[in-house]
Amino acid sequence: MNFEYAAAPESRSVVKIDPVYGHFINGKWVNGSSHFNSINPATEEVLSQIALGTAADVDAAVKAARNAFDKSWSKLSSRERGKYLFRIARIMQERAREFAVLETLDNGKPIRESRDVDVPLSAAHFFYHAGWADKLEYAGVDTTTAPHGVVGQIIPWNFPLLMLAWKVAPALATGNTVVLKPAETTSLTALLFAQVCQQAGLPDGVVNIVTGDGSTGSAIVNHPGIDKIAFTGSTEVGKLIARALAPTNKSLTLELGGKGANIVFGDAAIDETVEGIVNGIFFNQGHVCCAGSRLILQESIADEVLEKLKRRMDKIRVGDPLDKNTDLGAINSAEQLAKIRELTAAGEAEGAGRWSANCELPTNGFWFAPTIFTGVTQAHRIAREEIFGPVLSVLTFRTPAEAIEKANNTPFGLSAGIWSEKGSNILWATQQLRAGVIWANTFNKFDPASPFGGYKESGWGREGGRHGLSAYLKGSAK
Ligand code: NAI
Ligand code: MG
Repeated sequence: MNFEYAAAPESRSVVKIDPVYGHFINGKWVNGSSHFNSINPATEEVLSQIALGTAADVDAAVKAARNAFDKSWSKLSSRERGKYLFRIARIMQERAREFAVLETLDNGKPIRESRDVDVPLSAAHFFYHAGWADKLEYAGVDTTTAPHGVVGQIIPWNFPLLMLAWKVAPALATGNTVVLKPAETTSLTALLFAQVCQQAGLPDGVVNIVTGDGSTGSAIVNHPGIDKIAFTGSTEVGKLIARALAPTNKSLTLELGGKGANIVFGDAAIDETVEGIVNGIFFNQGHVCCAGSRLILQESIADEVLEKLKRRMDKIRVGDPLDKNTDLGAINSAEQLAKIRELTAAGEAEGAGRWSANCELPTNGFWFAPTIFTGVTQAHRIAREEIFGPVLSVLTFRTPAEAIEKANNTPFGLSAGIWSEKGSNILWATQQLRAGVIWANTFNKFDPASPFGGYKESGWGREGGRHGLSAYLKGSAK
C-alpha cells in the first residue's frame, strides 16, 4: 500500500525581500548603477533586482576594506575579533529560519537541506573560527600569524551562504578584511548576511559585499589593492584567475570542480550503500563539487545494487523546494539545466544506457529527473566532465586495482567514497586514491574542523580546519 504525503510547505512570509538591492560597502548600502534579476528557479518568479558591480564599486569596496584593515581590524586584539565572530554565529542561528527560506527561494534547493545542512553548517563555521581567533599562535600551521590584509573572495551558487561562511569566517578570524562577491543567481543570503554584520556591530569596511557577474569577479581579481584571492567555482574560471595572478604577488586558493568516484566493493552492506549513493549524487540536485558522480561497482554486486538503486530513486520526491517533504529541488538556472541536458544527450549519443526515475516534473522553473547511465566507459564525456546535476555515471570493476585505476583516471581529485565492510580494503584504497576528501561507508559529510580541498584540477589549498587557516596567513604556501 502506498501512502501519499500531504504537502507541508514552509512559509515564505518569514523573509522580507527588497525589490532592489545595492552593494554593502563600508558598512553602508550603496546604490548600484545597473541591475539584473534574481529569480526563484523553481517558479521563475522574479525575487529582486541585484546590482551589477562595476570596477568603481569594487574599488570603493577595496578602499573600505584597506581602511578597515589599517585603522580598526588589525588594531583589535584577537580576543575581540573572536567575539565578533561569536556574535555573527549566534545571530545566524537566531535568524536561521529566515536564512533557510531565503536560500531555498533563491537557489531552488529543498528547505530540508537549507534548514538542516546549509544554515547550521554556516553558523558552525563561524563558531569554529571564533574559537581559533585568539589561538592562532597555537595553530601550529605556520611560523607567523600575520594576515594578508585585504582578501577578495568569489563564490558559486550551489551553497551560497555556506561558501560565504567558508570564506569569511577564516579570513576574519586571522585578521583579514574582505571584499566578497556572491554568484549572480544567488546573492540574497549574502545580502542578508550583510545585515547580520550590521546587527553584530562589525566595524565598517571589515566585510564588503559587491554583487555582480564574472566582470565584477574579474575586477576583484585584478584590483591591485587586493592581497589574496579565494575562489570557488568552475575549473575554467579558476584557470583564468591563476593566469591573471601568476605575475603578481597575490596569494591564491582555488576550490574547483570534481568528478568523485564512489567505489562499492563486493562485500559492502548493500542497503546502506544505496542510501549513500543517493546522498552522494542527489544531495543538492547534484550541484556539489565533491558529488559522488561516478559510481564504480564491483561486478559481483552490480546488478543487485542497480536494481535497488532504481527502486530507491523512484521514491525520490522531486518538486516544490519549500515543501518539507521534498528531496530534490530545482536546477539552479536555465544555463545549468542546458548544460545538464547537453551532457546527458552526449551520454546517450556515445552509447551509454539512460534510466530516469519515474517522477512528474513541474511545468514552470528548471527541473531534471534523477538519472543514471549504465554501461559507461572511461572515454565517455559523462565519465570525464563535471555534469553538476542529478546524473550518475555507472562503471564496473573486477579487481580492486582496477577500481583504483578507474577512480584516479580523471583530471580532478576532490573527493572519493569507499563502501566495504572490511577495514583493510578501506585503508588500502584510501592510500591509493588521489582525492582530497575520502569518505568510507558514508558520503557528503562536512565539518568545519575537517580540511577540504583537492588535487590536480580540483584546486589549490584547503578550506576548514587548521589547514584552512594557513591560507589566510602570510608566509603560507600559496
Ligand atoms: P563560474 O566559475 O563561472 O562561477 C563561479 C563564480 O565565479 C561566480 O561568482 C561568477 O560570477 C564568478 N566568475 C565568473 N567568471 C569570472 C571571472 N572571469 N573572474 C572572476 N570571477 C568570475 O561557474 P558557473 O558558470 O556558474 O558554472 C559552470 C560550471 O562550473 C558548472 O556547471 C559546474 O560544473 C562548475 N561549478 C563548480 C562549482 C564548484 O563548487 N566546484 C561551483 C559552481 C560551478
Ligand atoms: Mg560562468
